[in-house]
Amino acid sequence: MKTISKSVPKRDHAEKISGSAVYVCDYPTEGMLFGRLLRSSVPKANLLGVKLPALPEGYIYIDKNDVPGTNEVWMILKDTPVFADKTVEHIGDPIGMLVGPDEREVDRLLAKVEVEYEELEPTFDARQSSVVFFDYGYEKGDVDKAFEDADKVYEEDFETGLQEHLYLETNGVIAHSKDGKIHVHGSIQCPYYVHKALVHALGMPREDVSVAQDVMGGGFGGKEDYPSLLACQAAVAAYKTGKSVRVVFGREEDVEATSKRHPSFCNYKVAVKDGHVTGMKIEVLYDAGAYTTMSPVVLQRGIIGAPGIYTIPHLKVHGQSRKTNTVPNGAFRGFGGPQTFFAIEMMMTHIAKDLGQDPVDFKLRHVAKQGDLTSTSGKHHFPVPIPAMMDAVVKASDYYTKRAAYKNQTGRYRKGIGMAAVYHGAGFTGNGERDIIKAVAQLRKDREGNVEILTANTDMGQGLFTVFAKIVAEALSLPLERIIITYPDTARVPDSGPTVASRSVMAVGELLRRAALRLKDEWVDGQEQLIEERYKHPEWMIQFDLETFQGDAYPTYSWTVNAVEVEIDTYTGNIGIVGAWGSFDVGTPIDENIVIGQMEGGFVQSLGYGMMEKMTAEKGRIRNNKFSDYIIPSSVDFSNLQVMLHVEDYPEGPFGAKGAGELPHVGGAPAVLDAIENALGVNLNKIPFVAEDVMNTLREVSR
Ligand code: MTE
Ligand code: MOS
Repeated sequence: MKTISKSVPKRDHAEKISGSAVYVCDYPTEGMLFGRLLRSSVPKANLLGVKLPALPEGYIYIDKNDVPGTNEVWMILKDTPVFADKTVEHIGDPIGMLVGPDEREVDRLLAKVEVEYEELEPTFDARQSSVVFFDYGYEKGDVDKAFEDADKVYEEDFETGLQEHLYLETNGVIAHSKDGKIHVHGSIQCPYYVHKALVHALGMPREDVSVAQDVMGGGFGGKEDYPSLLACQAAVAAYKTGKSVRVVFGREEDVEATSKRHPSFCNYKVAVKDGHVTGMKIEVLYDAGAYTTMSPVVLQRGIIGAPGIYTIPHLKVHGQSRKTNTVPNGAFRGFGGPQTFFAIEMMMTHIAKDLGQDPVDFKLRHVAKQGDLTSTSGKHHFPVPIPAMMDAVVKASDYYTKRAAYKNQTGRYRKGIGMAAVYHGAGFTGNGERDIIKAVAQLRKDREGNVEILTANTDMGQGLFTVFAKIVAEALSLPLERIIITYPDTARVPDSGPTVASRSVMAVGELLRRAALRLKDEWVDGQEQLIEERYKHPEWMIQFDLETFQGDAYPTYSWTVNAVEVEIDTYTGNIGIVGAWGSFDVGTPIDENIVIGQMEGGFVQSLGYGMMEKMTAEKGRIRNNKFSDYIIPSSVDFSNLQVMLHVEDYPEGPFGAKGAGELPHVGGAPAVLDAIENALGVNLNKIPFVAEDVMNTLREVSR
């Protein structure tokens, strides 16, 4: 282990543990107005009119007519309106906002607002939707020939459900309007995304708008796009009233109205010759919900990863994301990866079983090797450490012994063990980093010799501030206490890109390391100095072409192997986790404890995704909107969790680090489903798989 990996106390520990951290909802509210959104109660309709009750003085209703610039929230595309225009497209679609000095009075008045709709026929099932938002595809080799030559062809369908982030802190912002300027702060993952949206919606000059992040209780991708919408709404209200406007959601509103993970439907056709997979035809469909938000990039990552960690010589992959009249689905840790990786891992397992082979052995025979072509005919430039990691997990979990022992059980309690191996492409997909983000990072030294880190990246709990400070301290050979980093404000920091795609350490951390080395070189005592570094794209990368989906989609990959052991009570359907083991390669950990925490947290979230978190949107309305009915894992559920780190240094990352944060959310679900299959002696194709699914499966098997 390198010296930099040795753990230090996280920078935000003391303030969070003592309760002194100031979240957006903790700011004093004197003189502020409280905003509440008027939301559509129907999934699809023409908006005919809004009838307001008599509003007492100081209470104001705001809608699309009050947007001073353009009634569009600029995310990737601009189809999300700030406030509904002529139609509403999902239950919860914001129509207007009521603001006033007393929050309860705002609620009371809002309940009296009447909306007149002309209801239209909604679409809830992406498979039936005729509105295709995005359509991508790519090919490799000669897939038709592979199917002609095959001695066996397999075909299966896979489905994954919604997943809610359930960050502990709900969405919230405060917008201030003063001297013709707008400042918004709050629970914001990507301050410059929000800045871009505000400038567009308000029609104001860039320099008159600023956005800052407050201390944050988790984002997990759920605060990647949504704050752009909420900030525009609050800012329009602040602009109109000239006052500060605070909008903080309650839990139910947050669950019902903000983004989720895309449900998916996948069809895999696989050609096998002489016991080896030679070709795949893959159809991917992601349910985007009502607006496009992050869907194009989520789908891109999904289809690129659709053949998993395997080298498949002949491939045809096609993916669509379609509109439904449900809450828009957006970014969620793993970002399109967990859906297709679930499908490919189950597919490979099922083929192995049919061929009478152990799935682990079968998968190992197909795993990509360094130098192999990737799915998009890029290259695996760096070692693929899966075999060694698999070995470690097999040993730690005693996989082979248990797998054999758990065949053909008949008692009340049945055990099973399963395994999955996945990757997460490190950083932005394709050329995003080079062509769109163009990250800039700065270091500012003061006269006393303290060094401040200036980036737009946010710490949402993942430990980024600590990690950035360690990188700079190490490169400058300075004590950690001399490094300053605070929550970013676009007025003070350059645009170093969003805190997404697990890119911050690898991409921005490397800029900081290089800036620190230069500062060390150019250091002058007693002087203020500013050093700036700009992103450089690795030259050895095979340029990715988004039209054809050919080339290196990622410079490098993070890898993980996960094993899960379950015990199922066949009387109640309860699925208990006996143990979960994971080996993770995220390159050099910049802080061992932080990385282990990231791996544990993501692994647990992934297990929740696979076997607990069931969210249903009946006729477009999300019914389970609380902690008491949307069940996520707690510390008692997966107490025997073992994380091992395997380190493959990435030469372009700071001290060898690559992407970490999302990797652990990709492999847990297929591993636990494989374990459930092993326990029940069936094949499964759908997550989440919860107690009632166990009972239904047992009933079917015994029929
Ligand atoms: N860890 C915590 N504690 N809270 C979070 O909100 N978000 C995840 C991951 N780990 C998250 C987290 C997601 S979705 C991403 S993309 C990465 O952190 C982003 O951080 P990084 O760029 O520093 O890896
Ligand atoms: Mo993470 S889903 O890229 O915010």
